[in-house]
Amino acid sequence: MRRQSTEAIHGHGYQDRERGVFKVPIYQTAIYEYPDAVMGEPRRSDRGLDLKYSREENYTVRALEKILARLEKGFDCLAFGSGMAAIAAAYISRLSAGSRLLVPLECYGTTQELAQNLSKFGVECVLARSDTGEFLERLEDGISLAIVETITNPMIRVVDVKEIAKRCKELGIPLIVDNTFSTPILYNPLEDAAWITIHSLTKYIAGHNDVVGGAIIVGSEEDAKTFWNWRRKLGSIMAPFDAFLTIRGVATLEARFEKQSSSAMEIAEFLEDHPKITEVYYPGLSSSPYKSVADKLFKRRLYGGVLSFKVRGGQKETIEVLRGTELIKPTPSLGGVESLLTYPIWTAAKNMSREQMEVLGISDNLLRLSVGLEDVEDLKEDLDRALSRV
Ligand SMILES: Cc1ncc(COP(=O)(O)O)c(C=O)c1O
Repeated sequence: MRRQSTEAIHGHGYQDRERGVFKVPIYQTAIYEYPDAVMGEPRRSDRGLDLKYSREENYTVRALEKILARLEKGFDCLAFGSGMAAIAAAYISRLSAGSRLLVPLECYGTTQELAQNLSKFGVECVLARSDTGEFLERLEDGISLAIVETITNPMIRVVDVKEIAKRCKELGIPLIVDNTFSTPILYNPLEDAAWITIHSLTKYIAGHNDVVGGAIIVGSEEDAKTFWNWRRKLGSIMAPFDAFLTIRGVATLEARFEKQSSSAMEIAEFLEDHPKITEVYYPGLSSSPYKSVADKLFKRRLYGGVLSFKVRGGQKETIEVLRGTELIKPTPSLGGVESLLTYPIWTAAKNMSREQMEVLGISDNLLRLSVGLEDVEDLKEDLDRALSRV
């Protein structure tokens, strides 16, 4: 078995010996010709399913899927038009009236909102704090399907997915793991009995803030077929050009993630000592209560490129910092080459009650930073300049 950084570059397996085309081309075609004039039997893709229409299967998308399946150590992968399209397909494939879906209180807002909206079909959304202990307890409440994020947002907690997956397996509950923040560089949920792994490819995997995409990595042929069929019916396959950009992006995933993680560590330490900062949330810090879980779960001593911190003062001072950076742009999303700063009470926690925010520790003076690939000294100077305004 080849190692991850090799698979990220060569794992698509694309070869065109006859014409010598070196890179995976963009197969910008909606349709594929039937092999003979009889319409009954279309071509088959390499997974043995129909290859006749790009809403179902596309060579460029297929090449990306093979890379992602290898990186996540899965049987196969299905790429979607967005992370939310992947999550929607996962929910729909398993839930029906009377199902109970367990969702962390601290998770991507739209993942939670969609789960709650499913009440119109008789699905109950059960919320649990992302603390491993509470999540494990709630699993006992007749849960039909559970979703968890390896690293939470915006408090950057590391969840003990290993423990949760083990218990889910014992109880027969399929577990969806959203591995977007940790990436396959740190963790492979399928190796720990997760049912499926999900990514918003928009983040680290595509990595350049210019693609929206999602993926489901499955552990069995049966699940691959199930999701292939749901994606076909929902019409949510990724576009060939986006797949091309993502293939280009994922080739440098490991190098980017290593630098982003080491810069994030340096910035976390810098902020921890800064007089205008009261708290820093980053699992790599020796002061973090999540460091031991991270060290247990993650394959590498890297802790990702996202950290949060609290500014001394309240909303006024915090907005001043948000406005004060020049290099670091105030915009949502994460994982790309540009460093981005977000104000969680306007983004991740927008739909939360004050009470829920308090439970999670989200306050008016919290900011989240996604560290890009700029020189770390420039980033520290930018933050220092913005902090000196308050
Ligand atoms: C952890 C996580 N999962 C899923 C999503 C949804 O992905 P997308 O925006 O690609 O639909 C996001 C988006 O921010 C996210 O942060």
